[in-house]
Formats: sequence, structure tokens, C-alpha cells
Amino acid sequence: MLPRQVTMAHLTTDAARARCSAFETPSRYNLCGMVTEVARETPASANASKPLFHIIDPRIFERDLLDDLCDLATRVRTLAKSEEGARALRDILPTRRAMLYFTQPSTRTFLSFNNACHVLGMCTSEIRDPATSSEVKGESFADSIRTFSSYVDVIIMRTREPGRAAQAARLMDSIPRPVPVINAGSGSDQHPTQALLDIYTLARSFSERGGIDGKVIGMMGDLKRGRTVRSLCYLMRNYVGVRLVFIAPEHFAMQDDVKAYLEDHDIPYTETQNLADVLPDLDALYVTRMQSEWDSANESRAVDLTRFSVGAKELAILKSDGIIMHPLPRGAEIDPAVDDDPRAMYWRQERNGMWMRVAVLLRIFRMHGRV
Ligand code: NCD
Repeated sequence: MLPRQVTMAHLTTDAARARCSAFETPSRYNLCGMVTEVARETPASANASKPLFHIIDPRIFERDLLDDLCDLATRVRTLAKSEEGARALRDILPTRRAMLYFTQPSTRTFLSFNNACHVLGMCTSEIRDPATSSEVKGESFADSIRTFSSYVDVIIMRTREPGRAAQAARLMDSIPRPVPVINAGSGSDQHPTQALLDIYTLARSFSERGGIDGKVIGMMGDLKRGRTVRSLCYLMRNYVGVRLVFIAPEHFAMQDDVKAYLEDHDIPYTETQNLADVLPDLDALYVTRMQSEWDSANESRAVDLTRFSVGAKELAILKSDGIIMHPLPRGAEIDPAVDDDPRAMYWRQERNGMWMRVAVLLRIFRMHGRV
């Protein structure tokens, strides 16, 4: 297929359209009659037939879009294996630029987004230390975000405070040249693209066993403050017959807002502090670390982590086709010796993150038809 023109995507707002009669209908065409690849609308729910714009809250994702993103990630992953395929991918978005605004520490999410952009030929700019941005001169968050949007075509952001990505998206919706905002982690609240890559990892792991539907998924660790498990729970409404088992230390149980969501969507869950009781039933065990950065009085230290860890003893009980996942970074909750077990899926999960993020960018820029 010939590359479609991707220029002037910034001329997609009402204000821009008012200045440009060629925008009247349809809005996807600009002054020169070229297809503008960035969707303008923020979908209330995101399905495969709608354009994808901001990604803030995992609750928007519908099953057909999740399946589509997983297929797309697989096609990208397969294509990237050959030199020719990797070059073809690099030719898809060479005129697009991304801003990586990561003021909270990140290794995997930052690197996988950065490299996902590069896989598609995009250029990236970054701010990681707010001390190097004009925020130290007193520039407001809103003005900083608006400034990023002046130079790039997508803003990917992680902040310590919850709600910042949503605030940035709302700001974008109010200005003449909006660009999509992707939430790469908002405090201890949500991490939607991690949930997408987790879904991809689960779907790949269970591809020979009927997919995610009907599986029993355990989530263990600091479920109270871990944003990855919170986001993953939200996506579970898309799968039939899934059962969740929460294994958390006292005081670190899954929060009521997520439990209420599961109840509203008829997703059964149970809670325990005893891994050995539930481990034989699990198809997947999603392990998380204690999120000690949120401690106010070293409360993580009081937890006996040996009860919420995976080592040789746990591997002996886990189903032969069960899997161990972890968003990483890990602490002592997974013995490195587990890495050599074929059921340890976290390194693959980490790499899946890059392919899934390529898929997300392809969807946002409406280039998924090219792969
Ligand atoms: C997670 C995060 O930052 O929320 N890591 C990640 O994005 N891969 C998990 C964590 O920090 O525990």
C-alpha cells in the first residue's frame, strides 16, 4: 500500500476549520485534500471502528479494540524481525514527533515508548527532570503542556500526581491545535498502556487455551497503591468468565473503587492473604512490588514479604501451564532463579510493552492499515 500523506494534521480543530473552508466536510481532510491522520474526538468508549485520540483511562477500551491492538502488536513484532520489515515500519511515521514528559522515575515505560516511536521512524523529545524545564521559573503546568503541543504530534506523560494526564487532555481539547495525550502512569491511580501490554501478554500466553476468557488470574502484592493492577482490573470487563483472586498483605488490599467496578460488571473476585491456598487454581499470577515510595511511616517494611513472594516452592505448586507476570521493577517478591522457568513471563511482558505501544501509536495516527 502507498504511504498516505500525513501532513498538516494540526489543522483538525474547529478553530482551524473556521479558517480553512476545505475543512468543512469531512474533517479528516485538510486544505490540500490530504488525509489528516490524527483523530480529534476523545471517545467516551474506544472501539475498533472509532478513531483513538487521548489514552487516559483504561475503562474506555472495548473488546474489539483490545483484540485489534493485540493482532496489530503481533503483526508489528513479526514484521520487525526482518531488516526489510523493520525498515518498512520506520517509514510509517517519519514526519511525526513525540514528547516524552516523564517527571516520575521510569525505565521500561519510558524506554519502550521511546523505542516504539523510533520503530515507526518518529523523533522524540524528552523532559524527565522538571528542574530542567521552565516549571522552575514558575511556568504553569498548563502552559508547559501547551508548549509541548506546539512542537510535537503526541504527548506521552508520567507524573507523580494523579489526574495530570487527564488535565492535559482537557487542556488539549480546549485549544486550536490539540495533540493526543497518552497517560504513561498517573500517580498511584492508572497506567492504561501497561494494562494493554498485560492483556497482550495474557492473550499470547493463553492463545492455545481459548485466550483470556474463563481464566483465573491472581494479583499479588501492594494492590492498594499499585496502578498497574488497578488498570488491569478495569480491562477485565471485556473477558467472559474471568475470575480474579487478590492476594495482598493486610492494609494493602485492592481499593474499594476498583472492587465496586468489578461488582458493577459482574466480575467475581476473592481476597486472601494466603498464596498457597489459591495458587493451584491460578492460570496467571500477576506479582507486584511494595510501592514504598508512597509510604508515610515506612509501612511497607512491616510486611512479611516472604508470604507474598514467588520462589521454587511456589513454582512447584503453580500449574504446569500457569504463568508468572510482573510489571517490573521487582524487589524481593520474585526470586531471580524463577527467571529460568518457562512459566516466568515478565521479560517477555516487558518486551511486549514496546510492540503494544507501537500498535497504540499506529492506531492514534490512523496508520494501522499500513501493517
Ligand atoms: C510499574 C509502574 O511504574 O507503575 N512499572 C512499569 O510501568 N513497568 C510498576 C511499579 O513501579 O511497581
